[in-house]
Amino acid sequence: MERYAHITGWGMAVPERVVTNDELAKTVDTSDEWIASRTGIRQRYVANARETTASLALEAARAALEVADLSPRQIDLIIVATSTPEHIMPATACLVQDALGAINAGAFDLSAACSGFIYALGLAANGIRCGAHNNVLVIGSETLSRIVNWKDRSTCILFGDGAGAFLLQASSVPGGVLASLMRSDGSGGDSLIVPAGGSRMPASAESVRNNQHFIQMDGKEVYRFATRVMASAAREVVQCAGLTLDDIALVVPHQANRRIIESAARSLNLPEDRFVVNLDRYGNTSTASIPIALCEAVAAGRVRPNDHLVLVGFGAGLTWGAAVVQWNETAKPEVSPWHRIGRQAGYGLSRVRSAVRRGLRRVEGIVYGKQSEVGAGDETLPPRRG
Ligand code: ACO
Repeated sequence: MERYAHITGWGMAVPERVVTNDELAKTVDTSDEWIASRTGIRQRYVANARETTASLALEAARAALEVADLSPRQIDLIIVATSTPEHIMPATACLVQDALGAINAGAFDLSAACSGFIYALGLAANGIRCGAHNNVLVIGSETLSRIVNWKDRSTCILFGDGAGAFLLQASSVPGGVLASLMRSDGSGGDSLIVPAGGSRMPASAESVRNNQHFIQMDGKEVYRFATRVMASAAREVVQCAGLTLDDIALVVPHQANRRIIESAARSLNLPEDRFVVNLDRYGNTSTASIPIALCEAVAAGRVRPNDHLVLVGFGAGLTWGAAVVQWNETAKPEVSPWHRIGRQAGYGLSRVRSAVRRGLRRVEGIVYGKQSEVGAGDETLPPRRG
């Protein structure tokens, strides 16, 4: 039986606080007029201290599970695409797995900057189509406000926080993710970079003093790259899917700059109303931008059954990627109120389960510690042979 990977659940989350261009203009030398005319952005959401990449991811994931009417126990794999993970380790995806109570799922983070969501979607769909997984949760979540230098007007105006999640499920109904592609060009790594905090430049008083934990960007370079790859990736992936651009009902591009999207539309010879644009309200939310834009398009009734969509993104790395999706909600089961109640109760239980597991691990540590004190002499390495 042929297997297909359908998007059966979707959800998004943004922080409470909105920061408008006018508010930004009070702290850096800029204006609503400059930002809106150069980028199309009018406001963005900014996380408070309680809102983190994992908490936004969790909220979006729960919304996606509601739409799909799926129990967290049925998830096989959770991929969180992010450039602003909670920690270098453990993976943010593991925190989401624990909070959801997805006890049968593997979990990992994917780092490909703003293209991360497309990369994750492609991997998830391929895993489903080849039979390795049945239910995969793909999340793009960011708190870019934590790595933005709020004194640097060339970057702080661009970015925002948020999360979007898709649930992908195996189905025998034709459709779903029909094709995807991932590309990279590491020679352009310097044009969009957070220099410090990794193994090349560990955190130090000097790296903090020099603002090297913040995003540094060559805007013009990234702009040129983006306008080049958006159209070519869209064209290539449509061809991979055996379609033509005339078959595409909607393009959901990465929301970085309105002018980049307009340039892609011109290059593809498609009308601008075929592109989803919501960056005026969210700014660039990196890995979250495509799923948030698609969630809004679905809510606004812009996506109809069997529509072919192109999702296309680019980002630091440099990376870019695209996917073609045939939207087919019929692959999704009816939502039952009992499942919903069960899920809500399950979220409460997952908190208890997590606390119990932590407790048991502590007890195990104490007992094991005592045992290894007693048997310390037995644990020496065996003598070398020869
Ligand atoms: N307000 C007012 N003036 C500003 C601001 C600002 N916020 N920022 C820069 N300027 C000034 C500059 O200092 C410069 O002044 P000068 O001419 O006196 O030197 C002038 O405006 C023009 O600056 P440019 O950098 O040339 O402006 P440009 O038209 O290139 O627009 C922008 C800058 C919006 C950043 C654009 O280059 C861009 O969108 N690039 C793509 C960035 C992007 O998409 N990044 C995300 C990639 S996805 C990811 O992986 C995260």
